[in-house]
Amino acid sequence: MSPSSSRRLDGKALIVSGASSGIGAAAARLFSAAGAKIVAVGRDSARLAALLEDLRASGGEAVTVSGDVAGADTARRAVDAAVSTFGGLDGAFNNAGITGDMAAVEDLPPEQWDRVIATNLTGAFHAAQAQIPALTARGGGALVFTSTFVGHTVGFPGMAAYAASKAGLLGLTQVIAAEGGPRRIRANVLMPGGTDTPMGQAVAHTPEIRQHVEGLHALKRIAAPEEIARAALFLLSDDASFVTGTALMADGGVSICRS
Ligand SMILES: NC(=O)c1ccc[n+]([C@@H]2O[C@H](COP(=O)([O-])OP(=O)(O)OC[C@H]3O[C@@H](n4cnc5c(N)ncnc54)[C@H](OP(=O)(O)O)[C@@H]3O)[C@@H](O)[C@H]2O)c1
Repeated sequence: MSPSSSRRLDGKALIVSGASSGIGAAAARLFSAAGAKIVAVGRDSARLAALLEDLRASGGEAVTVSGDVAGADTARRAVDAAVSTFGGLDGAFNNAGITGDMAAVEDLPPEQWDRVIATNLTGAFHAAQAQIPALTARGGGALVFTSTFVGHTVGFPGMAAYAASKAGLLGLTQVIAAEGGPRRIRANVLMPGGTDTPMGQAVAHTPEIRQHVEGLHALKRIAAPEEIARAALFLLSDDASFVTGTALMADGGVSICRS
């Protein structure tokens, strides 16, 4: 049985941020096929509307919330949508993120630093702050935050704000897991390797850079977005019922490869 047909998320109401593109869009489709009801979050309402149409056409239940994850208001509206439309919240894939412009630390404009931290790290905090009470009211649930290998096992030049924001998610997640454990709330970080999305394509923007990035991975390729979505599905599902406070690397071996 394929993961999408196994209904491993049957009936769960899940928020997916960054659902308008890449990993988040693949996750929204996969989770929906696995039986979840989706609150799809992003800024691009046209792409969210197209996703919504697809999910509903495939028999899924979904709603969209357009907004900037850097603001607490978007996080609250997403939780409100889950509660008012689906009767509660069972989990979230807090996945929206940006790399920001590439620049060495000494050249990085502080406003660029602020924007990346606000989106990737403060946005995750706002999401968790809005989601935890709803999960508590539900008697438990699962949160997954999308980090990366950059800033964890690889110091990638030019990506200071991105690396710092994503490394910060590990600390945030550990605390949420410790605080939420007694209330049956699990929290984990997902660490993808290079993934073939608009973000991945922007980083590997020439054939030479793409070949170089692929070669950094033990598998000598980057991931399809669905491969990362499958790892997120595992962490959100009851298959991961004893997995909390940890980081799952779905990174094609980029963290261990020296060849
Ligand atoms: N691709 C890779 O190689 C790779 C590797 C490791 C980790 N990751 C992480 O995986 C996650 C998904 O990235 P992706 O590769 O799928 O990139 P992507 O295709 O560029 O998608 C990023 C998503 O995040 C949303 N987003 C960005 N800023 C937002 C904001 N301020 N408010 C609301 N939504 C926002 C975008 O939606 P809108 O445009 O509609 O706002 C989009 O849906 C990111 O956290 C990224 O850091 C990616």
